[in-house]
Amino acid sequence: METLQPIPNFSESDLEAILLSKEQIDERIDSLANEISNSYAGKDLTVVCVLSGALVFTADLIRKLDVPTRLDCIRADSYADATESSKPPRIASSLKTDIAGKNVLVVDDILDTGKTLSAIISHLEEFEPSSLKTCVLLDKKERRQVDIEADFSGFDIPNAFVVGYGLDFAEHYRHLPCIGALKAEFQILP
Ligand code: XMP
Repeated sequence: METLQPIPNFSESDLEAILLSKEQIDERIDSLANEISNSYAGKDLTVVCVLSGALVFTADLIRKLDVPTRLDCIRADSYADATESSKPPRIASSLKTDIAGKNVLVVDDILDTGKTLSAIISHLEEFEPSSLKTCVLLDKKERRQVDIEADFSGFDIPNAFVVGYGLDFAEHYRHLPCIGALKAEFQILP
């Protein structure tokens, strides 16, 4: 007998559970923005957004910062189109601006094994910024393989593959306003 393949809607109905609602995310970003603004008071800041996952988070965060802020982007290839990375991350696209002597804050969506953020930090250190800090929205501490902690962190989350609010599965779900665990039956590539 033929088994029916579940069809994804690419909406909240594909989530096993909502981990963080839009309201919880908004509220936490308010307090993160305060922490960051206080920490850089009287200084200029260059925010480096790690594409594409941190795009939504960065857009919301920088509009709440109270310090003069420049924006640049970087792209690292880690989880191409799957939920597990096999090869070490590669810097696929670097900065457009000069960060020598600047206060740099790298903003990423999620700190998982730590390989991506540590590869980005090593890359950016070569440009000799005056300070280099990190901010992540989500932290999956139990998955860490590299000794790294974010300077600013939104939420600790359990070990589940999550999507929404910029996080994707095969480029889907980034537009969801909340963050949730994707049902296992939809974690299959076509
Ligand atoms: P590492 O393991 O290098 O991973 O710390 C960081 C990058 O991997 C992606 N990632 C995820 N993406 N849901 C996603 O949509 C997840 O649960 C997840 N875990 C890791 C993400 O791009 C992050 O920057």
